[in-house]
Amino acid sequence: MPADTNQTDTSDQRQPGDSVTTMTGSETDLETRAAELRERLLAADHAYYAEDNPLISDAEYDDLMRELRALEEAHPELITPDSPTQQVSGEAAVGFTKIRHLTPMLSLANVRSPDELRAWQQRAQRQLPNATFAYDCEPKIDGLSMNLLYERGRLTQGVTRGDGVIGEDVTANVLTIGDIPHQLRESAQYPHPERIEIRGEIYMRRDDFEALNERLAAEAQVAGREPRLFANARNSAAGSLRQKDPRATATRPLSFLAYHIGLIEGVSEPATHTEVLERLRAWGFPVSERARRVETLEEAQAYCDETAAIRFTIPFDIDGAVIKIDSRWQQQDLGYVARDPRWAIAYKFAPVEANTRLREIVVTVGRTGALIPNARLDPVQISGVTVSNATLYNFQEVQRKDLREGDTVVVQRHGDVIPGIVKALPELRDGSQQPWQPPTTCPACGTPVARVDEEVMVYCPNASCPAQQLENMRHFVSRGAMDIRGLGEEIVARLVNAELVHNVADIYTLTREQILDLPNFQQKSAANLLAAIETSKSRPFPRVLYALGIRHVGEKAAEILAEGLRSMDALLVAPEDQLAAFPGIGPKIAESIYQWCQQQTNRDLVARLAQSGLQMALPERAEPDGEEANLPFVGETFLLTGSLEHLTRGQAEQAIQALGGKIASGVSKSLGHLIAGAEAGSKLEKAQKLNIPVHDESWLVERLREHDAMPAERKRM
Ligand code: IVH
Repeated sequence: MPADTNQTDTSDQRQPGDSVTTMTGSETDLETRAAELRERLLAADHAYYAEDNPLISDAEYDDLMRELRALEEAHPELITPDSPTQQVSGEAAVGFTKIRHLTPMLSLANVRSPDELRAWQQRAQRQLPNATFAYDCEPKIDGLSMNLLYERGRLTQGVTRGDGVIGEDVTANVLTIGDIPHQLRESAQYPHPERIEIRGEIYMRRDDFEALNERLAAEAQVAGREPRLFANARNSAAGSLRQKDPRATATRPLSFLAYHIGLIEGVSEPATHTEVLERLRAWGFPVSERARRVETLEEAQAYCDETAAIRFTIPFDIDGAVIKIDSRWQQQDLGYVARDPRWAIAYKFAPVEANTRLREIVVTVGRTGALIPNARLDPVQISGVTVSNATLYNFQEVQRKDLREGDTVVVQRHGDVIPGIVKALPELRDGSQQPWQPPTTCPACGTPVARVDEEVMVYCPNASCPAQQLENMRHFVSRGAMDIRGLGEEIVARLVNAELVHNVADIYTLTREQILDLPNFQQKSAANLLAAIETSKSRPFPRVLYALGIRHVGEKAAEILAEGLRSMDALLVAPEDQLAAFPGIGPKIAESIYQWCQQQTNRDLVARLAQSGLQMALPERAEPDGEEANLPFVGETFLLTGSLEHLTRGQAEQAIQALGGKIASGVSKSLGHLIAGAEAGSKLEKAQKLNIPVHDESWLVERLREHDAMPAERKRM
């Protein structure tokens, strides 16, 4: 019989002294407090599980739960049937069929210190005084637990945990996850069970989560709407799994790790958890590489400490370690209490949160004029990193959280993602903290701020605002845009401060003498910079259009417009409804482009850039005699990543396009070739995952030479 189906024993073996409880106050106070804690925890559960929109941090949730548990332990009369301590959280979202698990999916009790871990072990030892325990240690993956039912080796159901008894049927979505086998691998040693419930965690790697958010932002931009991004990898995994259309889930990079079995029928029961993991591997499931069996509790504690220390080097979010007693017979004897098995425990890591003082809220001006509030903090260490700044996203966010200068605030770091402020602690105010007043004028140029319709963002409407110009220039020279190497952020700032450039067109009229006037520039570095500027003139028209930094015009929108209109001249005179009619260009992007084109300063800028020799049109189409269809790369898509040695990226792209090939905007299943130069990063990894042919630069050079399309080699910089 699997351990989870043991008879429930509701007599809690925990000793009253095991948890820290100091009870003061009258019975009614305690009753009120328990009700308050229940209400807050249930609201937090709902926000977390049903809306994927956490109200409070994990650490805060755990604190509330511990307080409620302690209260209930000391005063069992306060326990109500709906108390979150009596339930497994994770309610089912509406819209999916509800399915009852064959055996309940349990949760895990938490400990947070060596003392508490020891107390857990001592409770188990008290229950089985003669037993010698061995333990399995695993990372606690911060994802969603999943119950997979295999019948005669075939995956027939994938169900979320839900409330532990009934979950939601997401089989169609689960079938799209590459890590999850549709058919169990069979061997003489490990034949198929008649039926088996495999349990594990669906999660998203951090790099996949970031790439997904980037993609969602780009898609939103193309569609002309505000992006709805996920706050962290866990929410991203949950949102991706709960898509109504499995084709949408199929485009989301979900992963799976198996760690437990529920029902098992038709084969012998594994005797140990180690054997469970061995069978899971043999049947074709990924199992944590860090899973380890140890003989003593000291070793288990060392495992927890070690895992906590390296947690950010693991490519996905974990929020603790799980320690399990290895023998499944001992597991059965120990049984479980309410929702938690006595034979397993989650060792939660110290929260990656810290309190610090919010010194100041500083407003910066973005490229498109958006005013962005940023928090300057008293430096504080969070998991080995000093945090002194955090973005506050927009004014509404500051007001919603009522953040005030001088407040003590809770700062959180999720993985290696930018730190954020969870909340202020108003109880620590001394009266000097005043509600924050957003500026009514641009902090850089003093122009009164503007709001676009019902958008959350507030903008500086002055196109020649110096802060915007600086950001615009940084965008213009960046890698995805004109890619002017050697013109990094700091040099741009120096050129602007020295008043050598006022707008992007001035970059192309810079002289050697002007550059040499800047501190630290030698003849050679000045010549390199001028060469890089010169090279950028060959960037294809869509890149130039993107580089101009028109609000809402991302790389994809620039490609669509360039393809449809063919030239900057055509864009400048295009009526708004013509722009909005292109697929992928919504009314919002169309309006933004139209407004931009109406500004005389922008038209002057375009004229100067054209005069400097930038590509302001796509090359003429091939003759309509079908010649284009005969080009050697027709029907092939390419994407370049990393740095190339013999060609600039612009040269390579142009040569590919000249041969009829297409340049993709990102790695997807339909990509034909990825050309990976030195230091290729996540695109390479993703392409390898999707089995897309990856080539090095010499392969491309050879193919270009074959068709006599190899440009003159790039100048060495
Ligand atoms: S074992 C009966 N192992 O943590 C024990 N759970 O807070 C079954 N989790 O519901 C769970 N990593 O979603 C187990 N290595 C691991 C885990 C793990 C993450 C999750 C699981 C569980 C929750 C409890």
